[in-house]
Amino acid sequence: MKHPIYHRMFGYNLGLLPNPQLAVLEHGVTTIDQARQKSGATIGYPGWGLIYHLLLAHLDRNREEIIIETGTNWGCTTIVLAQALIDAGCRGRVLTFELDPDNASRTQANLTAANVASRVELHLGDSRQTLPKALQDISGIRLAFLDASHLYHDVKQEFETVLPKLSDDALVIFDNTYRIADEGEDQRVNGFLRDMPALYGGNLVNMEFVSWYTPGLAIWQKQGVL
Ligand SMILES: C[S@@+](CC[C@H](N)C(=O)[O-])C[C@H]1O[C@@H](n2cnc3c(N)ncnc32)[C@H](O)[C@@H]1O
Repeated sequence: MKHPIYHRMFGYNLGLLPNPQLAVLEHGVTTIDQARQKSGATIGYPGWGLIYHLLLAHLDRNREEIIIETGTNWGCTTIVLAQALIDAGCRGRVLTFELDPDNASRTQANLTAANVASRVELHLGDSRQTLPKALQDISGIRLAFLDASHLYHDVKQEFETVLPKLSDDALVIFDNTYRIADEGEDQRVNGFLRDMPALYGGNLVNMEFVSWYTPGLAIWQKQGVL
């Protein structure tokens, strides 16, 4: 594995954050270690802002929008996703999937403090099982954020579970996209992204200076050319 690189920002204007609970969690935080203590393994700023504004520009106010997040952690990006639904004036909810019960209970507290709990459905368990079950009767998803296990085959499995449920104009966001693996190691998210165009077509945009170890956030657009 290559050495860690962090692109979470500190010292920015907290007024830019989409929800006051995030500002509470970021208050006085100047290092990655402090950030980990308060908001966990989240993408942080500017990733939160990127996803929030992307959603404001993508959500369809005439539809009931279902947003998927795998890997809830402490619910910080879940807050962003739910706040975007609210601020866009959209009906709908966020379905988020977390393996660890301690993370899930910390998430519940954060969602309540952020005043977005009523727009979020938290599924506890391994997303390889809980995601297909939860999506059984759902279709027309326009936004999924895949951020649970970052191993190649886990990301691929999550993506292929979501794929048949996506609308043609859907976006899928991946975190931890930097090429961190050395040769002979699991190629993780970056390896999957390298294989994506040949396997599924579409458009892929990778933003390197976002998020933390592993950095990078990518957006895949299902319908490549409109
Ligand atoms: C990087 S964190 C997610 C950060 C979160 N999306 C955010 O931006 O705030 C990854 C999370 O995925 C969870 N996770 C890992 N494997 C999982 C699995 N198979 N099913 C569900 N959650 C999983 C971990 O427990 C951890 O909380």
